[in-house]
Amino acid sequence: MPYYRVVGEIPHKRHVRFHKPGGGLYSEELMGEEGFSSDSSLLYHVHPPTAIVKSEVLPDPAEEARLIPNQPLLPRHYRTQDLARQPGADLAGTADLVLGRQPLMGNDDVRISFVIADVPSDLYRNSTGDEAVYVYSGTVRFESAYGAIDASAGDYLIVPRGTISRWIPGRYGGTGGTHVQALVIEARGHIRPPKRYLSQSGQFLEHAPYCERDLRGVAGPLLAEGEDVPVIVRNRAGLTQLTYARHPFDVVGWDGYLYPYAFNISDFEPIVKRTHAPPPVHQTFEGPNFVICSFCPRPLDFDPASVPIPYNHHNVDSDEMMFYVAGDYSARQGSGVGIGSITLHPSGFTHGPAPGAAEAVIAGMMAGKVTTDETAVMIDTFRPLLLAETAATAEDTEYAWSWARAARGG
Ligand SMILES: [Fe+2]
Repeated sequence: MPYYRVVGEIPHKRHVRFHKPGGGLYSEELMGEEGFSSDSSLLYHVHPPTAIVKSEVLPDPAEEARLIPNQPLLPRHYRTQDLARQPGADLAGTADLVLGRQPLMGNDDVRISFVIADVPSDLYRNSTGDEAVYVYSGTVRFESAYGAIDASAGDYLIVPRGTISRWIPGRYGGTGGTHVQALVIEARGHIRPPKRYLSQSGQFLEHAPYCERDLRGVAGPLLAEGEDVPVIVRNRAGLTQLTYARHPFDVVGWDGYLYPYAFNISDFEPIVKRTHAPPPVHQTFEGPNFVICSFCPRPLDFDPASVPIPYNHHNVDSDEMMFYVAGDYSARQGSGVGIGSITLHPSGFTHGPAPGAAEAVIAGMMAGKVTTDETAVMIDTFRPLLLAETAATAEDTEYAWSWARAARGG
């Protein structure tokens, strides 16, 4: 994270005696990236964060979704509303935001899943990398050793690797009758704001499409009581359940640059040009060998001669995944793509708007429609995305032929 925060109580210097009111010392825990050589936070626990009493292997629902090459090479279209029940759903048909994740695609750098969660998750620590959880609908309370963040539709929640957390659907952890839908991006490394938007010391620059004021951290410390508390840990080998002697949410204060935070897509300030601007203007985060972009409502390109929708393009080094969240997708008219759709346009295939879409949007501009209300989340990866076999139930297998169909007037 680019800047320093302090939450709760901390002593005046690092690594000095910090006494508990009832006697004894608080236990320090340094959460740090890149072996003491990058961002970190120093947490103060009531109980030692090292005290575990049991360790057991857990079955991993995500591993059941085998990833296979996109072969034969095709552009793909999935409808999230058609996805089969999540692999982590229990007999009552309920699922949580951790074990209920349904993998859609992935590679060695990133795994992308969709989840519909209606019950609280167990405590969870992902030790394989950072997560970006994009809330598509509903509300969810994110609780962690750092504190809690209440999130709703349009929020990206960035969770650093190793954070112990849990997800509780419903506003402020309310109970029953509510669910949350989310796109989950699990990186094999760190997810950060793009470097080009940051000063040397990490401050957002004036030309950045968002800044520190748009990032929401935790409100305060979150203290929970409990003994023999299970925590599901994901590492490269799979899932383990570690049982902690005392509840890990016992941090009275912390400070540093490494912590979970939320950013709402509606706080992204779109960058527009007189003629069409390419997706890098929409970039919101970067991860190892991938980027995350936010397409937000904005004025259409405003040159009188502009073609105000994307040109056909072939990013020869990237696969492009797009999640259509809200708005009117003029450029995709006739393709079958709508709200809730996810498309994949792989390297090896040239993609673009449906034939005839440009003419339709230009006619709309002449009639006074000079803005677009589209909202979408895009993930571009620099290595090919493999496909989860289980997502095939939600695939629109006619999508690949939609450009030819439109060109022929079909
Ligand atoms: Fe594209």
